[in-house]
Amino acid sequence: MVGMGMIFDETYRPFFERVATQPLYGPEFGVCSAPLNAVATRTGQRAAAYRAKAPKDLQGFQNFFGVDAVEQLIDSPVDVVCIATPDDRHFAAAKLAINAGKHVLIEKPSVLRLRELDELDAMAQEHGVLAKVVYHKLLDPDHKKLRTFVADGVLQHVNNGYCSLLEPKSIAGSQFAEWIVGRNPGTYVAVHYIKLIDFTFGLKLKRVTCTGQRGIVGPADGPTWDSTQLRLIYAHNDGREAAFDIHTSWVTPDNFPGYVEQEVQFRFDNGVWNGHSRKRGVECTIEGATPYKIKNTINNHYNASVLEPWGERSQRGYGIEVIERFMREAAAVEFGGPLEERSIRLAAARELAYNDLAADRQVVAAVEAMEIILARHAAGIPECVVEVNAPAGGLVLKVPGESRDEVLYAPAV
Ligand SMILES: NC(=O)c1ccc[n+]([C@@H]2O[C@H](COP(=O)([O-])OP(=O)(O)OC[C@H]3O[C@@H](n4cnc5c(N)ncnc54)[C@H](O)[C@@H]3O)[C@@H](O)[C@H]2O)c1
Repeated sequence: MVGMGMIFDETYRPFFERVATQPLYGPEFGVCSAPLNAVATRTGQRAAAYRAKAPKDLQGFQNFFGVDAVEQLIDSPVDVVCIATPDDRHFAAAKLAINAGKHVLIEKPSVLRLRELDELDAMAQEHGVLAKVVYHKLLDPDHKKLRTFVADGVLQHVNNGYCSLLEPKSIAGSQFAEWIVGRNPGTYVAVHYIKLIDFTFGLKLKRVTCTGQRGIVGPADGPTWDSTQLRLIYAHNDGREAAFDIHTSWVTPDNFPGYVEQEVQFRFDNGVWNGHSRKRGVECTIEGATPYKIKNTINNHYNASVLEPWGERSQRGYGIEVIERFMREAAAVEFGGPLEERSIRLAAARELAYNDLAADRQVVAAVEAMEIILARHAAGIPECVVEVNAPAGGLVLKVPGESRDEVLYAPAV
């Protein structure tokens, strides 16, 4: 495990705690354990704090920290490396792990540049390992139903839509204080919905624009963004266009009734889909606890600590399910049949577009475009546009008032 911050605690920790007593089982690979053997973090403090309270079975992991923590982890006996560092540090850790022949699972967004994606994908092919990304919202039952309706032709031909994902101020103010300078909430969370749109509708990305606001997390003329509004234009195979607006923020008040606000609306030729992750069921008020310690509207589908009807305490939800699913894919590659057929199993696992790095091209293209547009904005040139698969190249930056375009990425996206 590389990085033991908020997302480790929410999803990886409960996965490792459950698998320690209930190993994975599949008819094709048998019983497969997935122990937490080693962790790498910046200071080692969170790892030590976790060890102190972890179940006994989990306390034996090696705790590497400091500048060469990832190198040390990779030299230790691990088969799979999960990367949950801040997003601009995914690439370096993933490169080291893949080069050492480890299967890799990276938190969203996978990487920030198409060139990085190309490099990791080529290395994964060369070393015969999986390089996969966590987009847990694809496993949200509501989003699965949306995709099922689209796949079955019940909802036909999406035309446009909006998504919003608003994070509390505590995220930007304290949780991410170490790495927030120069960052934006779009890369951090719009990416969930870029992937949902990309994976659900199967369209070709054409154009990216973005604007945003500053002044709360950092200075009003600085490089750190409070909120962003991203617009993506896609093309259907029949030439008709579809447009999606994705609004994000990490300065929503901390007394907001839910942990994050997540809403989508998609309009089709024959229908409208409205989804709200927070308002889908529970509203609860507890004196002295809500909305700070416990939220009024809880997303129990993502992640819930519960007392099972049979008396067991457990933590479950699609945020954890997505990690288990990846471990099963890795187990099937390694143990799902004879060694001489491993490459066939590996190829089958790499075909899974929901999480394979090779299938993340349009998402990374959108993130790369958004980041350069925001960087130009911060440098005094707002309203740039990035065209995708234009005559001049795969990602082409158009600067207002300038006749010469800038090619950010030459190959086709
Ligand atoms: N799937 C989701 O919904 C979701 C939610 C939150 C975060 N995330 C993603 O998870 C990643 C981490 O986010 P977080 O909220 O846990 O962040 P965090 O700031 O809480 O934790 C980051 C962790 O990475 C470690 N770290 C930082 N630099 C490192 C380095 N160079 N080498 C090794 N370890 C290093 C830190 O020590 C810390 O343990 C991000 O990519 C984020 O986008 C995903």
